[in-house]
Amino acid sequence: MGSVTPARVTAPDVRSRKGDGPPLVMVTAYDAPTARIVDEAGADLILVGDSVAMVVLGHDDTLQVTTEEMAHHVAAVARARPRALVVGDLPWLSYHVSREETVRNAAALVRAGAGAVKLEGGRKRLDAVRAILDAEIPVMGHLGLTPQSVHALGGFRVQGKELEAARTIVDDAVALAEAGCFAVVLECVPDAVARIVTDSVPVPTIGIGAGRHCDGQVLVLHDLLGLEDRTTPKFVRRYATLKADATAAVARFADDVRTGRFPSSGETYHMADEVAEALDLTDLSDTRA
Ligand code: KIV
Repeated sequence: MGSVTPARVTAPDVRSRKGDGPPLVMVTAYDAPTARIVDEAGADLILVGDSVAMVVLGHDDTLQVTTEEMAHHVAAVARARPRALVVGDLPWLSYHVSREETVRNAAALVRAGAGAVKLEGGRKRLDAVRAILDAEIPVMGHLGLTPQSVHALGGFRVQGKELEAARTIVDDAVALAEAGCFAVVLECVPDAVARIVTDSVPVPTIGIGAGRHCDGQVLVLHDLLGLEDRTTPKFVRRYATLKADATAAVARFADDVRTGRFPSSGETYHMADEVAEALDLTDLSDTRA
């Protein structure tokens, strides 16, 4: 019997994991090789986050990325045919202008290969959530530090530390779940807030900088792998030092090239001697082996 391909994870599968089984694992990916890494490692969800703007495209915030760029990255991830659910992040201004634009932009990410979309904000964004759900597209919410609001929030900082702010996050989470979101990301909130939200909503919470009481955890791949090492937020745990390892590897390549150790004969295509002689190329062949 041949091996059976494992079923792809769907938004209802994720929703059904509330209070059941081990915590959900979500990791970002932005192209086919990173999607393969995350999927083969067994993540439940791949988030094609608008963090692509910062960790891949070199911007200082997430506000610079467009729906077209997000669709480009979602499509690259989807081509890896991951088992994990692919969640496409709706970028800033893609769901703020009109219901029609919101649905079209969400559909662009689905056509590119996403099985769900994520958007930032609470009760203020319920119309957008409902419009997308009406188009039969599953929606993941995102509360707490919502990086698309960086200017309104006055910077990237922990949210919900004061009583009123904490209550707002809890009420927003309840409203998103009631509207039909299948999961909610909680970013940079105190663990007590994440615990109350997690206990208050019937859908999984997925935390980043939100402590251990969430139903799942998410990290940005480049942080987790140490590919992005310019800033290290408190909540990031690095499992590798890929930036340092990659820099050392490229430096060794440069050294091998400069000292004539690369390429070797084994890394070179050769032709039969007699053909080379006939071409009068013998003197060019393999002198550096
Ligand atoms: O864009 C992103 O990577 C995110 C995560 C930080 C949750 O939204």
